[in-house]
Amino acid sequence: MKNLSMGFVVFLLLGCAGNKKIANNSFLKTAFQNDFLIGTALNVPQIENKESKAASLISNEFSSITAENIMKCEIIHPGWEQYNFNRADEFVEYGQQHHMFIVGHNLIWHSQLSPFVQKITTSDSLMLFMTNHINTIAGRYKGKVNGWDVVNEALNEDGTMRKSLFLEKLGDGYVIKAFELASKAAPDAELYYNDYNIEQPKKRAGAIALIKSIQAAGVKINGVGIQGHWSINNLPLNELENAILEFSALGIKVMITELDLTVLPNPWDLKGADVNQNFENSAFMNPYPNGLPDSIDTKLADSYESLFKLFLRHKDKISRVTFWGVDDGHSWLNNWPIKNRTNYPSLFDRSLNKKTAYKKVIKLASKNK
Ligand code: XIL
Repeated sequence: MKNLSMGFVVFLLLGCAGNKKIANNSFLKTAFQNDFLIGTALNVPQIENKESKAASLISNEFSSITAENIMKCEIIHPGWEQYNFNRADEFVEYGQQHHMFIVGHNLIWHSQLSPFVQKITTSDSLMLFMTNHINTIAGRYKGKVNGWDVVNEALNEDGTMRKSLFLEKLGDGYVIKAFELASKAAPDAELYYNDYNIEQPKKRAGAIALIKSIQAAGVKINGVGIQGHWSINNLPLNELENAILEFSALGIKVMITELDLTVLPNPWDLKGADVNQNFENSAFMNPYPNGLPDSIDTKLADSYESLFKLFLRHKDKISRVTFWGVDDGHSWLNNWPIKNRTNYPSLFDRSLNKKTAYKKVIKLASKNK
């Protein structure tokens, strides 16, 4: 009898210990809570809680959210005096309700601009737009949005400044000006420069020069976002590690802000005359319309595992890892750079089930403790 009750006590103790481990490590945000925030981009139905299975998944798994589209100029600021705040307000309320780190994406970007901005012809008018835009939007969410992508994608692949409307009309000082405006409009928010391929040497050098110019002007910049739209066929692990080290050496936080891994061929990876429109919707460019083969599922999982190993190695430098979309079904990569393909870039499949990649990533977190 004594033995039996002792056994029961041991069983209970083991059970509790086991449960505790499950409680700590069964969701991404808790598994990595001592390492970095785990974020996701949200689209409108997700913000409005219209997808019930997704709703609990999002609040359980993620500690940070980024607006996928609704804070972009073309939606939030469609006319000189016209702002659409409804959706952005909902997004911010959602983040507050769930105690999430809220990222505003983005203030100044050449893409998804409203038509009225594209028609601006004078420097003065563009400066007026930029000032109103940042003051109004960053100001409205002052104390609520925790971090802003102040300037998005200002660089070319060779590290020079992209010839955007902003560069043409305002000169390269526009980036510093944007950060200055944002720092005044939302003094408590973290301010970031965000771009893709800035792990690559030339573009990285351009980003470093740009960040140094902001710092030299005495203007606040808290971090840099490496977008992280990569491919399982071409993961830039070495360059990424160099980038994390070099960006961090500037005294700013490093973030992976739009992580997704395409499993499909990219048109620009194909050499020579094979790159043409005929590939659109072809079986070659859309090889897995009916499901992800096991071998590719494994390759995706191994890719995510090697990325997260790297992130954990540099967790002292990385403050956030944000996925660009919750699940395969909602990823923009089903429609870009070719429309109507079936891609599988996420940790969750189209039914919101955890993929092999999820399991490998979360396992790393428990090993890390
Ligand atoms: C994408 C969205 O995911 C799509 O829904 C939209 O149609 C186009 O923009 N870099 C960025 C993001 O900074 O804002 C982009 O988001 C993806 C590339």
